[in-house]
Amino acid sequence: MTNHKELQEEIKKRRTFAIISHPDAGKTTLTEKLLFLGGQIRSTGTVKSRKSAKYATSDWMEIEKQRGISVTSSVMNFNYKGHTINILDTPGHEDFSEDTYRTLLAVDSVVMIIDAAKGVESQTKKLFKVVSEHGIPIFTFINKMDRQGREPLELLEEIEDVLGIESYPMNWPIGIGQSFQGVYDRHQKAVEFYDTEGDNKQAMQISDLEDPVLKEKAGEDLVNQLQEDVLLLDEAGATYSEEDLQSGKQTPVFFGSAISSFGVPTFLNHFLDLAPSPAPRESSEGEVKPDEETFSGFIFKIQANMNPAHRDRVAFLRIVSGTFEKGMEAWLERTGKSLKLSQGQLFFASSRGNVEKAYPGDIVGLYDSGTYQIGDTLVGSKNVYSFGALPTFPPEHFAKVRAQKAMKQKHFYKGVQQLSEEGAIQVYRTAHWDEIVIGVVGRLQFEIFEYRMKGEYNVDIQFDTMPHQHARWIETDNPEDKVDSIRNMLVYDQLKRPVLLFQNDFALRWFKDKNPDIPLRESR
Ligand code: G4P
Repeated sequence: MTNHKELQEEIKKRRTFAIISHPDAGKTTLTEKLLFLGGQIRSTGTVKSRKSAKYATSDWMEIEKQRGISVTSSVMNFNYKGHTINILDTPGHEDFSEDTYRTLLAVDSVVMIIDAAKGVESQTKKLFKVVSEHGIPIFTFINKMDRQGREPLELLEEIEDVLGIESYPMNWPIGIGQSFQGVYDRHQKAVEFYDTEGDNKQAMQISDLEDPVLKEKAGEDLVNQLQEDVLLLDEAGATYSEEDLQSGKQTPVFFGSAISSFGVPTFLNHFLDLAPSPAPRESSEGEVKPDEETFSGFIFKIQANMNPAHRDRVAFLRIVSGTFEKGMEAWLERTGKSLKLSQGQLFFASSRGNVEKAYPGDIVGLYDSGTYQIGDTLVGSKNVYSFGALPTFPPEHFAKVRAQKAMKQKHFYKGVQQLSEEGAIQVYRTAHWDEIVIGVVGRLQFEIFEYRMKGEYNVDIQFDTMPHQHARWIETDNPEDKVDSIRNMLVYDQLKRPVLLFQNDFALRWFKDKNPDIPLRESR
């Protein structure tokens, strides 16, 4: 048993976060530098080489390899300066799926990477929306300062305008691209000079921005510019507010260059200081605090086994309270039944298999032969409660699907049902013909669906991809009257609630204009 003080210390040490960005902004590079600092990898370049094994989406073996990687790198756990850090991967590119969104509901904070040349890009916007809706603290790392990029003030403005969050630069760049000299830390009044050699630099303390060392190293023009910018930030910029940071209303911004690890150690130190440790979570019985003795957690992701010969899956459990111990008994809220979380059922990304104990903020992988569903709550006592269902996220790609052979109908429905429980697809039926429509967040999910239906349920699928891009639940008594087959299509979700599928933004706006009194919802 872990005593209360021990549990509190373990909680205080933990930081569980996800990194969000648009592809190519530098997520892999930054993650790798963090793992390097934590001593998880001995040289950098290893994570990248796995990633650069790009796959053709039609080649399933390659997709599977990719998914294999994503199982083992789904959670990266390491220790650094007395902290235990869990980084949760948010797959991007073709892999972008509901899991990417749901992972954000299992973290205590988020790091957003922005490419200095590109600013806020589309995928970042989508992910940011989920983060801000849940009031999760967000830290910004503006990357690639060694390359010619946009003006720093312009980037801050864009963060504020596009994302609607106040920004507070913790440091400020001296020059950009070819003239990039380093960063000035506004709090420590220290300068870190950019130097591409070595991975762990110490900042140089300066008396103030008039310090002659600064001019000597960075040159008069850049120092003048720095003085002007800092004055502007001090006078007209946001005031730092810990409270706003913790509620996700203000983001501290750091400039750096992940590729040379420049600014990364400083960023990590500030992050560990400011980022929250595991938070309490609302349940049906009120708030559950992490240091409560009773163990609790929820399943936020289910990953199918890579080996089609086994139906086993891995369910990812985020611990909310208490201590997880190997072999312990827990109750599944949905069924009320008890389970033994025994040896062999455990899978922990850092130590591959043998976790004796885990604490709030940690992610434990449970081997699953169909027991768990996304959003399930597990409690270490008979008096169960629920953390509530996890929201579903709007799919952006749709297809009508059916079994090629009518004989396979039963297997087809079973497969569709199970894959939807895993959260891999959303399932609807058309209003008149009762055809099955599936919706996914990322296109790769179609291919995975097709492959798994064949591999696990022995059903060949007939696919008709649809031109629709948005799904909205509608609240109206006679949804059939609202169908305009050119612009939208009526389907029903699994609880028989009406959903309209729209072909594009224009069709969605058109509908809103014509029917201002009908509420449209992105998620239920
Ligand atoms: P991602 O995971 O967000 O998709 O991005 P990733 O880290 O793979 O980085 C995308 C590209 O940007 C890579 O180059 C990477 O080397 C580069 N990069 C990352 N951080 C920095 C930085 O601070 N400065 C500069 N100049 N480049 C950076 P690539 O050419 O696509 O890949 P590779 O050929 O280098 O492997």
